[in-house]
Amino acid sequence: PSALAGRHFLKELDFTAEEFRGLVELAAELKAAKKAGTETQYLRGRNIALIFEKTSTRTRCAFEVAAADQGASTTYLDPSGSQIGHKESVRDTARVLGRMYDGIEYRGDSQQKVEELAAHAGVPVFNGLTDDWHPTQMLADVLTMTEHCAKPLTEIAFAYLGDARFNMGNSYLVTGALLGMDVRLVAPKAYWPTEEVVDRARALAENSGARITLTETLDDGVRGADFVATDVWVSMGEPKEVWDERITALGPYAVTMDVLRATGNPDVKFLHCLPAFHDLGTKVGREIHTSHGLAYLEVSDEVFESAHSVVFDEAENRMHTIKAVMVATLA
Ligand code: CP
Ligand code: NVA
Repeated sequence: PSALAGRHFLKELDFTAEEFRGLVELAAELKAAKKAGTETQYLRGRNIALIFEKTSTRTRCAFEVAAADQGASTTYLDPSGSQIGHKESVRDTARVLGRMYDGIEYRGDSQQKVEELAAHAGVPVFNGLTDDWHPTQMLADVLTMTEHCAKPLTEIAFAYLGDARFNMGNSYLVTGALLGMDVRLVAPKAYWPTEEVVDRARALAENSGARITLTETLDDGVRGADFVATDVWVSMGEPKEVWDERITALGPYAVTMDVLRATGNPDVKFLHCLPAFHDLGTKVGREIHTSHGLAYLEVSDEVFESAHSVVFDEAENRMHTIKAVMVATLA
């Protein structure tokens, strides 16, 4: 059995660097086995519940395909399809599902809910995204980085541009810090993670040797980066009224070819967890017209469609890495 058998997967902070890297390595092995047609099913007869209080394409499909490949079955509970949080408490839901399922995935707003689910389910609980963390996404991003950069992880530099206060910014900072990487968050100060998250990252960096940079200066932030990453400027659950403020604040941090050139690295790669705004019906620079007026894109279509972009490898890797999490915790 794996050293992670029976464990939850709730946030990066719960894992050692060795454990986290072990999951990425297991994912690479499972990916190779699937491609070679030699995959072993470790999860035959297991049942996994998938609770989604927010919508999803990649995370849901990754869990379903990974489970099917491994011989497990899944039940998908859509954002309106269960009693959770409306007619039944998280705690009761956890105790019910824990009697029927071997593992539970949860996507929703609050990290506290997924932690509460884990506290009462009696079976491993997996965080499929909360407002605070997106840990399965980080496994996919790290696997993608190892596939597209020959350097050891501790020598890889990556810069995340955009809203760094939400799940992706927090997760990138803490994951880079955990793994000893050169991690830069490039955004206006108001969009940096909370002091608490930054302190946790700095504490991890002391052990791992990670270099942490938070900067408002784009050129300094991206110089020498092996990877440039971004995310949508308005996340799920946020009101559309925040668009205006985001466009003003984050517009200068949109990932364009100029940004990639500013890295000075001709081999720089572009990452995006997706879904992305890059081609909503216009080719005029970074401007798009949405139902609520003019908006800007976090990444230009030119970058998104370029040879620098590895976003579809990253998306595929969601499946291999989520499979690794289930195999490690449930096999
Ligand atoms: N990256 C990601 O989590 O995508 P979905 O929202 O489609 O699951
Ligand atoms: N920050 C985005 C990530 C989507 C995968 C959101 O929470 O909507």
